[in-house]
Amino acid sequence: MCSRESTMAKRAILMLLPTLLGIALTQENFYGESLSFRSLQKKKDGTVQVSFYYRENGRGSCKDQLSYRCEIGYCNNTEDSKPVLTDSSSSAHEQWCQSEGQARVAPLNNHSLVLNDTGCCWPPNVHGKTKWMAGGKLDLGYRSDTHTYNKIPVTATVAYLRVPQNCFTKLRLLAYDPDGDHVRCLFASTSVDSKVTLDENECTIKATGLLDVGLHVFELVLEDHPKRDVNLTYDDGSSSEKKAFNIHSGIHSTPFSQIYLQFTLQILYPAHNCIAGHVVPQYLLPTASHGDVRQASVGERFQLHIHAQASETKIMDFQISGPQNMAKNMTTGTLGNASVILNWTPALNDLYRLVPICFTAETYESQSEMRCVIVMVTRSSTSEGKALVKCSATQMTVSLEKDSMDGIDKNSLNMNDPSCSMSSNDTHIMATMSFNTCGTKLEDNGNFLIFKNEINSFELPDTVITRRRRIKIGFSCQFPKTVSISGSYQLHNSDNIFTESSFGSFGYTFGIFKDSSFAHSIATDAYPMEVKLLDPVFMGIRAVSELPNITLFVESCKATPDDNPENSISYNIIQNGCVMDETFEAHTSDPTSFNFELQSFKFVGDFDQVYISCSVILCETGNPTSRCAQGCVTNPPKIFKRSLHKETAIHSISTGPLKLIREDLRATVGAGKLKALLGSNTSSAVLGSLFTITVLVLAGFIAVYVRKSKTVDRATLITECEG
Ligand SMILES: *[C@@H]1O[C@H](CO)[C@@H](O)[C@H](O)[C@H]1NC(C)=O
Ligand SMILES: *[C@@H]1O[C@H](CO)[C@@H](O)[C@H](O)[C@H]1NC(C)=O
Ligand SMILES: *[C@@H]1O[C@H](CO)[C@@H](O)[C@H](O)[C@H]1NC(C)=O
Ligand SMILES: *[C@@H]1O[C@H](CO)[C@@H](O)[C@H](O)[C@H]1NC(C)=O
Ligand SMILES: *[C@@H]1O[C@H](CO)[C@@H](O)[C@H](O)[C@H]1NC(C)=O
Ligand SMILES: *[C@@H]1O[C@H](CO)[C@@H](O)[C@H](O)[C@H]1NC(C)=O
Ligand SMILES: *[C@@H]1O[C@H](CO)[C@@H](O)[C@H](O)[C@H]1NC(C)=O
Ligand SMILES: *[C@@H]1O[C@H](CO)[C@@H](O)[C@H](O)[C@H]1NC(C)=O
Repeated sequence: MCSRESTMAKRAILMLLPTLLGIALTQENFYGESLSFRSLQKKKDGTVQVSFYYRENGRGSCKDQLSYRCEIGYCNNTEDSKPVLTDSSSSAHEQWCQSEGQARVAPLNNHSLVLNDTGCCWPPNVHGKTKWMAGGKLDLGYRSDTHTYNKIPVTATVAYLRVPQNCFTKLRLLAYDPDGDHVRCLFASTSVDSKVTLDENECTIKATGLLDVGLHVFELVLEDHPKRDVNLTYDDGSSSEKKAFNIHSGIHSTPFSQIYLQFTLQILYPAHNCIAGHVVPQYLLPTASHGDVRQASVGERFQLHIHAQASETKIMDFQISGPQNMAKNMTTGTLGNASVILNWTPALNDLYRLVPICFTAETYESQSEMRCVIVMVTRSSTSEGKALVKCSATQMTVSLEKDSMDGIDKNSLNMNDPSCSMSSNDTHIMATMSFNTCGTKLEDNGNFLIFKNEINSFELPDTVITRRRRIKIGFSCQFPKTVSISGSYQLHNSDNIFTESSFGSFGYTFGIFKDSSFAHSIATDAYPMEVKLLDPVFMGIRAVSELPNITLFVESCKATPDDNPENSISYNIIQNGCVMDETFEAHTSDPTSFNFELQSFKFVGDFDQVYISCSVILCETGNPTSRCAQGCVTNPPKIFKRSLHKETAIHSISTGPLKLIREDLRATVGAGKLKALLGSNTSSAVLGSLFTITVLVLAGFIAVYVRKSKTVDRATLITECEG
């Protein structure tokens, strides 16, 4: 038996089969724990070793953390270390701490290892929960598909999760399986808040109502199930079969392993604004996406950069859940942004670990969403594989240089969707996919939309010899969400936008239409168009892109008398997503179009032209926290608008210019609507002259971004014990 000790009192017991109960309770506060395992290792003498790390959450100093220790006769400790403080808050405002300890045990059974730890007490919480459970259960069988022991799902959380009551919609947890198994997350106990549900396949907790203000405790268990039938053989010669997991059948065979994950979630008093980037921090590039897998090598410095912004407040700290000896260096920038660089140099005994790193950005009022990445520790890499990613408007292409990766074979590589095949020639292995095939995932990373996929090596079913190198190449195409469209009396033919097909690009067209059907735009060569003062003008913006599942949002539109959108003489038509012009009428359109109608007008003075510029944003459809979903924001922070201009155009394509025609409109100048417009809250834009105007706007800027991926993981599939 293995038990845990604190500096204060022994309070809980970790049992290895044969199971035995023995619990000592104390009144210490338990804020949650996560376990992460190294691959099972077989020593030369044939005994199996299980090495694991445990991260314990706390408040204050984390001085009284528990450590695991075997009791004679039940398991053999081959190594253990006291927990070491890995992160703590720098301010006195919100206090948290996390520590990490390590233990290595030898199971005394050929089939499974049970780490079972229960104790008391959770801190005072909304549901009055006291007893907690920790640990897990591991299968010690050798897998027929990976030719190695099963690997346990990787998970972790930061020490202190907190969110304003009105901002809590969901909490994504880390559930990464190194073998590519299906991970299922379940509530470990039946008494669960009725206002939360758990998406067990996504490992995401979702709110179905407002959670009570206060501390909520969560106890989850993560299970890994095979996606294909797998045979397991044990050291005593016995074997068993595990059937492939079927999400839909509802019938599940026993998982390979079960790992507990416990944490607390503090529901804070409501915030006045939940839009990410204002009070709630939002991540900016180059922050890693949730679930990213990074590689680190023994003896080499590994760095992780995290950037976040909360324009209405100040980011006071970042919470980190990471390994021992990881240094955090935070810098605060202007406009409510801040960044942190995590530095970690893995030691030899970290080799082959899959280390979870989770982080959040902290403000006094709130916390950003939590993201977690996995760091795979491999031997120092002498060679690095070369991969090149090309993004076009409709697809991405990845090519791997065969010379840079020994023994690489296209038949043992697959993408997120294994049914997608790769092609090859003498020098390269290539794959091309559109953004909605081959398992490509869309992610909304604050200011960019990112399409991600991954190439992984797998074992061919009939391979006898196990391939020792494992390849994992993540690649992505990213697109800025915001582009300013400004009128310049130039027409942009959307077909032109894709001439640079080697780059990730998308474009917008902004055109004038004949009528409210918005079916026929006025052709370029038909310009100049005659518009009578006060006549309706039909305009439409189209996002020209084949990105799936995106929504176009028009954040602002303003009119200026020349092609400078920053002209001090201007008139707001749409501002912060709110309609400012009383004659404005929106017409229904699909999610990537925006059709509207305006009554034509003219600037007072010697101006006979009107230019219109709009700022548009693309968001992931259905993402409730996106700018698109927020719509009209009446009280935006001053900074928001400026940051929109960060992603201005890189280049534009144009035709034109256009001439202006004047027409006497004396007879048509009526009263009603003209007055309305005069009375609207414009400072400088007014109508009144007898002459017509032209409203012409066309534009299209495309932004071009490309990211190259050069990640190749070379973790070995078999991990043998050192020494
Ligand atoms: C535990 O370790 C000791 C010393 O390494 C060894 O003598 C003993 O046989 C081990 N016990 C078991 C049950 O493996
Ligand atoms: C741990 O022990 C408790 C109480 O005996 C039991 O309910 C639970 O299922 C056990 N957990 C594991 C993972 O075996
Ligand atoms: C598992 O073993 C059985 C019996 O040896 C065999 O029939 C079956 O095909 C094996 N399954 C897999 C997935 O290897
Ligand atoms: C596993 O089984 C083998 C063969 O039956 C036996 O010699 C060995 O002691 C067992 N190992 C453990 C840890 O029980
Ligand atoms: C922290 O980062 C800043 C800016 O990158 C650098 O000047 C400073 O030396 C770093 N401090 C430490 C302790 O690494
Ligand atoms: C903060 O934001 C400004 C403007 O958005 C940017 O120029 C600056 O580089 C950012 N600083 C940091 C540390 O991220
Ligand atoms: C193989 O394909 C790549 C990518 O399309 C290309 O760059 C390379 O020249 C091709 N090599 C040969 C030998 O055709
Ligand atoms: C688009 O979104 C819908 C609903 O969110 C989803 O069912 C569908 O799979 C998505 N399609 C793609 C290609 O991502």
